[in-house]
Amino acid sequence: MRFASRLDAVPPYLFAEIERRVEALTAEGVDVISLGIGDPDLPTPPAVVEAMQRAVARAATHRYPSNRGLEAFREAVAAFYGERFGVELDPGTEIVPVLGGKEGVAHIALACLDPGDVCLAPDPGYPPYTSGPVFAGAEVRYLPLEEANAFMPDLDAVPGQVAARTNLLFCNYPNNPTGAVVGNGFFERAVAFAREHGVVAVHDASYTEIAFDGYRPPSFLETPGAKEVGAEIFSLSKGWNMTGWRIGWLAGNADVVEHYRRLKTNLDSGMFDALQLAGVAALTDARAFPVEMSEVYRRRRDLVVDALGRAGLPAEPPRATPYVWLRVPEGHDSASFTALVLDQAAVIVSPGPSFGPSGEGFVRISLTVPDDRLEEAAGRIASSLRVESRA
Ligand SMILES: Cc1ncc(COP(=O)(O)O)c(C=O)c1O
Repeated sequence: MRFASRLDAVPPYLFAEIERRVEALTAEGVDVISLGIGDPDLPTPPAVVEAMQRAVARAATHRYPSNRGLEAFREAVAAFYGERFGVELDPGTEIVPVLGGKEGVAHIALACLDPGDVCLAPDPGYPPYTSGPVFAGAEVRYLPLEEANAFMPDLDAVPGQVAARTNLLFCNYPNNPTGAVVGNGFFERAVAFAREHGVVAVHDASYTEIAFDGYRPPSFLETPGAKEVGAEIFSLSKGWNMTGWRIGWLAGNADVVEHYRRLKTNLDSGMFDALQLAGVAALTDARAFPVEMSEVYRRRRDLVVDALGRAGLPAEPPRATPYVWLRVPEGHDSASFTALVLDQAAVIVSPGPSFGPSGEGFVRISLTVPDDRLEEAAGRIASSLRVESRA
């Protein structure tokens, strides 16, 4: 059998080696704590579950949905954007459902990129910003996110010949994996760059609802001119504990929305109507739920940052996202520190380079496990460092 070479063109999956070691340790009866993946441990709000139960019992939801999405869903999204961000969206032309943010990211790349085009993607960044463009035959150029620049890309550093070939720019704030929030006029700079070079700017807003200490992350679409140059992908996954449901949307420029929708009419038949009605419940009855979840993650953030600090591992407390981006201690790189905490503490963290080369020197800790397990994990990491320093 022969398979498509595009599958070999995506970067190797760095978690494979970790998974192999986890399997071996678990088989030996070791209690492994995974802080590797950002999958909320707590349940979806009851109002959403009940809305889904009612919706799924209605025969009208059992037929093919449309790729355009239910009017009720698009109107709920428009109302949410109006109230939360002060952004006006036309539910008729500027909103379309996506089957989770991941699907939105991958397919917007197919809708926007031709072979030979360039896609600019944050490094470190969510891996589909790379695989989506690569599957489209495009070339990915990384935009390094440096701590010295508050993990914001420097668009002025993009060479003119690269900018001329660029047709898609991904950005993502609050940011996975660094936990950074947008600042320094970056969204305004992204709009100007997109205008100047005729680029589609797509902001991934998957984490805007998980934020702490009174901070309210903005939507890219609040930026003057954003709707002329791009769109935003939003997901219910993280704020509403709905990773398994696959509900999100693409909103913004009507041409971008329409071209994504046209592509999708050839790939799937839209989002199950019952799911869309559950999505409406999330945006109405369970509207305030992410505020409760943010308080849970704030508590866990403080617990982890304090415990790691006591162990000699200082970390900047993030103002948003369920992630702590931790610099590895002297004498380690990301891989050796990941291996140390796995072998000595049976704790899994994500090595920074699994999100791109500029992630070297960091690991990502996810706060999506119960407090007692987090405490236990931080304690075990501290002991593994003590053991190492004695060795
Ligand atoms: C930055 C970012 N975008 C998108 C997603 C995808 O989320 P979903 O497909 O569950 O909406 C994730 C998930 O971890 C993410 O970190």
